[in-house]
Amino acid sequence: MVWIDTDMGFDDIQAILMVDHSRFDIAGVSLVFGNAPMAQVRRNAARAKACFGWNFPIFAGAHQSILGTVETPIHVLGPTGMPTRGRHLPEAPELDLGPALPALAEWLEGLDEPGRILALGPLTNLAILVLSRPDLIGKIGEITWMGGGATRGNHTPSAEFNAFADPEALAILLANNLPLRVADLDLCRQVQVTPQDVEDLAAADTERARLLSDLLGGFLDIALSRGRPSMSLYDPTAAAAFIAPNAFEFKTAFVTVELAGDQTRGRTVVDQRPGVEPNAHWGMRADAERVRALALEALAEACFE
Ligand code: RIB
Ligand code: CA
Repeated sequence: MVWIDTDMGFDDIQAILMVDHSRFDIAGVSLVFGNAPMAQVRRNAARAKACFGWNFPIFAGAHQSILGTVETPIHVLGPTGMPTRGRHLPEAPELDLGPALPALAEWLEGLDEPGRILALGPLTNLAILVLSRPDLIGKIGEITWMGGGATRGNHTPSAEFNAFADPEALAILLANNLPLRVADLDLCRQVQVTPQDVEDLAAADTERARLLSDLLGGFLDIALSRGRPSMSLYDPTAAAAFIAPNAFEFKTAFVTVELAGDQTRGRTVVDQRPGVEPNAHWGMRADAERVRALALEALAEACFE
């Protein structure tokens, strides 16, 4: 059983398809701004639900960061937050979404053992939960989060997008000792999707295969347009760390997030020196072939009704 918190870009959808394809039940999905402003994230969720026949409940969460900012990468991803080589997710009626916070709280309250959360976007929803319902912190057994990075950033030279979009939210989780397992940029960069993968997907020759290969191709083009031969599978790597932890090596670390610097805001600082008291588990190595297989199998399966 898992709760998924997401900003519903294409790599988020891939991650959700992977979890759906695995033995885990999805108890609920909460939306957060990120890959696009919240109105578009809601549209993406409605379209993905209709397209893939998702039957888990979806809830609306934060439309802005803890400090009230709305940072998105739409200058790179386009207005849908989901670049494509042609086809878009088919239009679908808007969903009437209930609020995320009470739904997540109710799920945690009803659990017999601590719940597992997969977080694929800015951590705003989880920070609001921690601030408003501190009594529920002990009900969270694990948060596997795609975010942060120990080396260069992707949204700024210093910072990874999900950390940059709401660094205060990450700081709140760290200050409250939430059980964080972090699949950061450096871990996700070990897992690459290639032009051949896009071709292989299209070969299934169904309407869904054509859609998914256009969307995977659009995602890959982010890297190709910058002269790189392949693209990192961000959220799918986090989903794999959740589904198949034995495909990864995690080490403990004391993690902080830069809140002040003009050039470094949102940067995660990962202290793994001996003797340091850890507050998180940091992903060090991934079995890249296994993670790719999990991601590509879930996409291949989704090509068929
Ligand atoms: O930096 C990569 C992350 O930013 C991914 O979660 C992607 O979906 C965007 O949210
Ligand atoms: Ca995401």
